[in-house]
Amino acid sequence: MLSEKYKNFAQMIVYQIYPRSFNDSNGDGIGDLRGIIEKLDYLKDLGINAIWICPCYKSPNDDNGYDISDYYDIMDEFGTLDDMKELIAEAHSRGIKIIMDLVPNHTSTQHKWFIESKKSKDNYYSDFYYWFDEPVNDWGSAFGGSAWEYCKERDQYYLHSYAVSQADLNWDNPKVVKEIQKVVDYWTGLGVDGFRCDVIDQISKDFKNGSNCFGPNLHKYINALFGRPETENLFTVGECWADNIEEVCRHAKEERKELTTLFQFDHIESCGRESKFVPKNDSLKSVRDILVKWQKLCYDNDLLYTLFTDNHDQPPFISRIGNDRELRYESASLIATMFYTLRGIPFIYQGQEIGTASSHYDSIDDFRDVESLNFYKIFSEQYGEEKALEMINFGSRDNERRPISWNAGKYAGFSTAEPWIPINSRFKEINLEKDLLSEKSVFKYYKELLALRKSSPEILFGDFELLSKPDDDYFVFTRTYEGKTVTVICNFEKTSQINIPNFNGKILLSNYSDRQNCCETFRPYEAAIFGDEELRKKR
Ligand code: GLC
Ligand code: CA
Repeated sequence: MLSEKYKNFAQMIVYQIYPRSFNDSNGDGIGDLRGIIEKLDYLKDLGINAIWICPCYKSPNDDNGYDISDYYDIMDEFGTLDDMKELIAEAHSRGIKIIMDLVPNHTSTQHKWFIESKKSKDNYYSDFYYWFDEPVNDWGSAFGGSAWEYCKERDQYYLHSYAVSQADLNWDNPKVVKEIQKVVDYWTGLGVDGFRCDVIDQISKDFKNGSNCFGPNLHKYINALFGRPETENLFTVGECWADNIEEVCRHAKEERKELTTLFQFDHIESCGRESKFVPKNDSLKSVRDILVKWQKLCYDNDLLYTLFTDNHDQPPFISRIGNDRELRYESASLIATMFYTLRGIPFIYQGQEIGTASSHYDSIDDFRDVESLNFYKIFSEQYGEEKALEMINFGSRDNERRPISWNAGKYAGFSTAEPWIPINSRFKEINLEKDLLSEKSVFKYYKELLALRKSSPEILFGDFELLSKPDDDYFVFTRTYEGKTVTVICNFEKTSQINIPNFNGKILLSNYSDRQNCCETFRPYEAAIFGDEELRKKR
């Protein structure tokens, strides 16, 4: 059973905002905080009740804000601290929580801690980062190349798990722990409701046994951040690549006072791709099997699961494993149904609610992401430029970082000036204005689905039972709470005959408008939710 506190969290529906690409309020081609304020009513209408904002702190922007140079102030391009305060107040007045992105693993090399640290081996900040005379292992940076960089000033090497300008903080230094606690308390003091914690599994390293994550002191450090009375009511979600239930429990069991929940990446890692830049022919069956596995594990261990398919680091899920052409609406709504009718916390990435798909570019100049640019160089040497570009088009994080297409106007209604990154090349076909006029509106489907979720204790808290079999080309399950049952049917790519014995639920929602009964032919990507009369009236 979930505790009352966790039952409250289970009612959250989070919308992730990539501020640079959400909405530009002042015509400089870059999204900003006032742009978010302008769209709060839109978000409220969609039905979300929390937003996670990717980093908006001061930053030289080598990794779009994940390289922070001042944790206490807002990036100039995004606005001011007063804008942030206003955003918090305006969101709260609409019943929307604010979750900030906490980046505890590294800072920009332009952060004053690093600038001081590199000056000498014996000042206050000297041990804020990992310095060694020689690289002590062969770790690579996630963005390509070695994770060790030589610094002339100190005549030593420092560790950077990401870009050269993102130096890893040394959490084994208690002063560092204190500094990050202060950051958490500062933003909490300004009214922030929680944090998404960037690569938190990497804050403790195991230099000897060769891993830059899940080090020996990881749980001690997370607990030092969030196990304090000051942080008791915060919602915290860790970006964490734990792939086994024991490790997930160590992070997210309530009594451990570490994280409320975490992002679990099994389905992201293995579905629809061989590796980050190499696609694989795959079916939604593999997604279903992973979801089922983790639903069961989360029930057995009283954990809250995160229900997500997209974020700022991954190409759109519908382009990876759905049909993002002729059946784009059906795919987008089916995938939403599969995920957001389970127990856990839905996370919707900006643009998902209009069925945004990956776009294609003919030149590397149309990409901005440091990871894509680094790997383009590496791949070009290995496979030639043409193949390299194809790989980048498939796996680039820029696929999710192009401005939202609000309409078919110049710059897709995102800005009046040329955006910092080329807009989605499919914007004339996929944009909010057009979606809302269509009979097959992804936005309207999302809105109905979220409203149904919020009004249904079965969907929020109910037990999970799987009715389909492993070989079936569909996913059928029930959610039961206090004797009432909601049944969810998700058919995959092909037409299927689906029969559930003794079924008598009423249709609550479907992405095929003529769907009435349960037991018959289900069409490609058809999704349908059934429940009792009462729930139907409530809507
Ligand atoms: C996380 C972020 C990603 C960033 C990296 C380094 O994976 O989601 O966008 O580049 O951490 O901070
Ligand atoms: Ca702007």
